[in-house]
Amino acid sequence: MHIEVSGLYKKFGDFQAVTDVNFEIEKGQLIGLLGPSGGGKTSILRMLAGLESVDKGDIVFHGKRVNDLPPQERGIGFVFQNYALFKHMTVEGNIAFGLEVKKWSKAKIKDRVAELVELTGLSGFEKRYPHQLSGGQRQRVAFARALAPEPQLLLLDEPFAAIDAKIRHELRSWLRDMIDRLGITSIFVTHDQDEAIEVADQIMIINKGRLEQKGTPWEIYKNPQSPFVAEFIGESTIVEDASSLRGFGNASDWPGTKALIRPEYVEVGKPSDFKLLSATESGRVRHVHFRGSEWLVEVEVGSTRLVTYRSLEKEIVHPGDEVQVLIHRAYLFNNNDSWIMENKLKEDPMPVHI
Ligand SMILES: Nc1ncnc2c1ncn2[C@@H]1O[C@H](COP(=O)(O)OP(=O)(O)O)[C@@H](O)[C@H]1O
Ligand SMILES: [Mg+2]
Repeated sequence: MHIEVSGLYKKFGDFQAVTDVNFEIEKGQLIGLLGPSGGGKTSILRMLAGLESVDKGDIVFHGKRVNDLPPQERGIGFVFQNYALFKHMTVEGNIAFGLEVKKWSKAKIKDRVAELVELTGLSGFEKRYPHQLSGGQRQRVAFARALAPEPQLLLLDEPFAAIDAKIRHELRSWLRDMIDRLGITSIFVTHDQDEAIEVADQIMIINKGRLEQKGTPWEIYKNPQSPFVAEFIGESTIVEDASSLRGFGNASDWPGTKALIRPEYVEVGKPSDFKLLSATESGRVRHVHFRGSEWLVEVEVGSTRLVTYRSLEKEIVHPGDEVQVLIHRAYLFNNNDSWIMENKLKEDPMPVHI
């Protein structure tokens, strides 16, 4: 289903929960709604579902305005974190429920339930009750139940938030596969950036009721359009005075400008590792953490502590080592503006790793 949302507003009492949200979603895409708790993600989802009224703005599905359409006529399936299964019903009963409400024939219901049990890998569990299932299995039942009436849009509100980390990881890739196979347009809410980055075709960053940025995970990571987005996505260190960094101008160029530095913008090494030593600063290694596939190195330059990743193939550095530090680029921002800047003193452009 193709979706268009324009000028969406929602107030709860005096509190403006959603402010001028605009977006479009192509058919078959999986969109991640990402942002801090209280930002308005659930409110947006509930308005799409018709569970919450719209103060202002239009919601258009397939070219048709649905603002006044009741939830059951919108062709939507949803899986909510706390949208519990019916305890007194088996897996089959839960999946069949929506179809019975819609007065499907017994034979059609039987076929559809069997199809979904198979699809969601729940074969053998049909007669079990929710308390006889693991958290992951329960969410798969919730997913099957949402899909049963053949919705055209699937809304998932933090579906895995209550599930422990390892299972959550498995469920994520399971969900991605499932949605690819079905080709159903889906919106997935999460406050976990890794979850959104791994699962979504496009991410929408929601903060304080506003849509801050929409794009592929890589676009958003590479070109954040606000300090909020830059800080929210990926790891970073904020440096209060950008001009204190060598290669990024002096204080008179941009007074009051802060810098955000990501680990991959930073390189540490011996003096002989760098072509242009004047672009580097002297630093001291503070901590070195083994991260399985690489080292995470914390290095202090003056009073600034930066973080960088270091390949296992490179010479090991140790806490206390004196090193040279090259900051390849920084994301600079002040009250009015934000931009990405390359270190002006170095020769080579930064290698881009994808
Ligand atoms: N029914 C409601 N009545 C009053 N305030 C609400 C209601 N629903 C949400 N809010 C408020 O709106 C804000 C956004 O909430 P929500 O959409 O649930 O955010 P998120 O899902 O991003 O955590 C929060 O401050 C929340 O307290
Ligand atoms: Mg929420």
